[in-house]
Amino acid sequence: MAMRLFIYCAGGLGRETYDIAANANCNRAQWSEICFIDDDTTTKGHACGARQFTYTEFTSDCLPDDSRVVIAHGEPRVRRMLADRVRSNNFALGNVVDPTARVSPSARLGDGVIVFPYTYVSSCAIIGDNVLLSVGSGVGHDTVIGDHTVVSSLVSVSGNCLLGSGCYIGTKSCIKENVRVGENTIIGMGSCVFRDIDPEMVALGNPAREIRRNVDHRVFTSSKFCSAGVEYLGQQEDGNSQQPSDRRQ
Ligand SMILES: CC(C)(COP(=O)(O)OP(=O)(O)OC[C@H]1O[C@@H](n2cnc3c(N)ncnc32)[C@H](O)[C@@H]1OP(=O)(O)O)[C@@H](O)C(=O)NCCC(=O)NCCS
Repeated sequence: MAMRLFIYCAGGLGRETYDIAANANCNRAQWSEICFIDDDTTTKGHACGARQFTYTEFTSDCLPDDSRVVIAHGEPRVRRMLADRVRSNNFALGNVVDPTARVSPSARLGDGVIVFPYTYVSSCAIIGDNVLLSVGSGVGHDTVIGDHTVVSSLVSVSGNCLLGSGCYIGTKSCIKENVRVGENTIIGMGSCVFRDIDPEMVALGNPAREIRRNVDHRVFTSSKFCSAGVEYLGQQEDGNSQQPSDRRQ
């Protein structure tokens, strides 16, 4: 049965994900339709010519059996929150893999993984659910990447590494073989990681050093990148369940 793909978040990353899914669909007709989910009607998702649903419309009008969702948000913390939300409504995550990406037949991709163009996933690597592998990134053999982690563009993760869940690996960073990065850790842009990094840290530089604890679990701090999704998550953790507006970078 042909599935519909719903890209949850219609910001910049959402539009990039749309392009990848549409391109992949030319090679292999996987999706009968590609749509967006976003409560913010000011996003440019419509620029792709795709239909956009609010989350409420999505859950009331669409069926879990013929729908797959992919999370197009760059904050690991928000990725986790939106994936949990979708799954709590019995919808499954689907994968979006660019035709130019090379994924070893012995590698395993979880559900909801986005693989950008010119990315390489090597032999026996294990990529968790809801992971984002951005453009030109490389994942070495036997490396394991935990759920919701974002590997930014041009990152090189060597073989036998372990990246915990909820990590953000900044653009153009390199991670040496056999290194472990603990969960919910941010590696700053352009870092060279030679030694293990603890969970819940921000580490950066060459050689990468832990500079502080990752207290707020937020990579993008400027107002431009400040997402209502992140704010919503904080509210949810405090026990107030407000609806996210799903705005993002
Ligand atoms: C690591 C990061 C999250 C830190 O953000 P932050 O806590 O807001 O840090 P600040 O911007 O306040 O910078 C604090 C200090 O660290 C320095 N710094 C920040 N990031 C750095 C990095 N990646 N490498 C080296 N130094 C860095 C700043 O210059 C500043 O130095 P100063 O105190 O001497 O002025 C952020 O800089 C980063 O690298 N984000 C990832 C960016 C990325 O990959 N973007 C891809 C977009 S798709």
